[in-house]
Amino acid sequence: MTRHEVRSVSSTVLSSGLSVFARNVKGQEWYQADEVAEAYEEKRFSRGGRLIDRREKEAVLSALGDVTDRSILEIACGTGRFTVMLAERGANIVGLDISAAMLQRGRRKASQVGVDDHLEFLRGDAARLPFPDDHFDAVFAVRFFHLADTPESFLSEMARVSREQVFFDTFKAMSSRSAYNWMLPMGSRLYEDDEVYGLIEDAGLELESAEHDFILPYGLYRQIPDWMADSLRGVDTSVVDHPIGEQFASVSYWNATVP
Ligand SMILES: C[S@@+](CC[C@H](N)C(=O)[O-])C[C@H]1O[C@@H](n2cnc3c(N)ncnc32)[C@H](O)[C@@H]1O
Repeated sequence: MTRHEVRSVSSTVLSSGLSVFARNVKGQEWYQADEVAEAYEEKRFSRGGRLIDRREKEAVLSALGDVTDRSILEIACGTGRFTVMLAERGANIVGLDISAAMLQRGRRKASQVGVDDHLEFLRGDAARLPFPDDHFDAVFAVRFFHLADTPESFLSEMARVSREQVFFDTFKAMSSRSAYNWMLPMGSRLYEDDEVYGLIEDAGLELESAEHDFILPYGLYRQIPDWMADSLRGVDTSVVDHPIGEQFASVSYWNATVP
């Protein structure tokens, strides 16, 4: 899709009623607020949280492989943490999100690192992707499925517009996250592995690989300086690398192919 086509899709999407937000994502309005968008990265990925950002980027890069000239759609791209990184690596990428405030931060970041000409940020709803079938080589979403009340509808939309690959993460039910989930402002949807296998199959995808990580809560890493987080992470990875420890991981990365 050319830049011009993306822009015209964008304005069609906006004029066709984005003011009526989809109702099947937890706390969707939360990310519309300017102050939430402004604090988003600082709150999650500073101090010890930096290593979470690094780990998620590594998961995306390892799943997508060489992205040069690959056409990629990022769902719920937020402030463009991955969109910008992939544009820097030569991907032909569109980042879609429903929050204008989050996208605004992404555009700013893209312009700061000089890739604003190599990507598109598009305001849209992941429940109704404004693209034809098989439009992208790969489609991915990070930190989105824990907000989704109807994950099957989002995953089938992602599968519909992808030619080759779909990648996403989920938070796991049997993990430290379940102990504090109720305290979070909107709570996260937590998944059993079997549920995700079913979702992948129902979307007509084939599971290529899955990785499970982080025994210790993200919140703990965020509270401590990064040198301390690095040591703790060593303990965390040695536990999660063990087949029994892996059962208690709190995040899963799912890499699926379009048959
Ligand atoms: C936790 S943030 C994750 C942002 C980004 N993926 C990251 O990992 O930094 C969740 C994002 O989902 C977006 N979102 C929520 N509902 C959406 C929908 N129906 N369509 C598109 N984006 C949506 C929010 O605006 C927010 O930017």
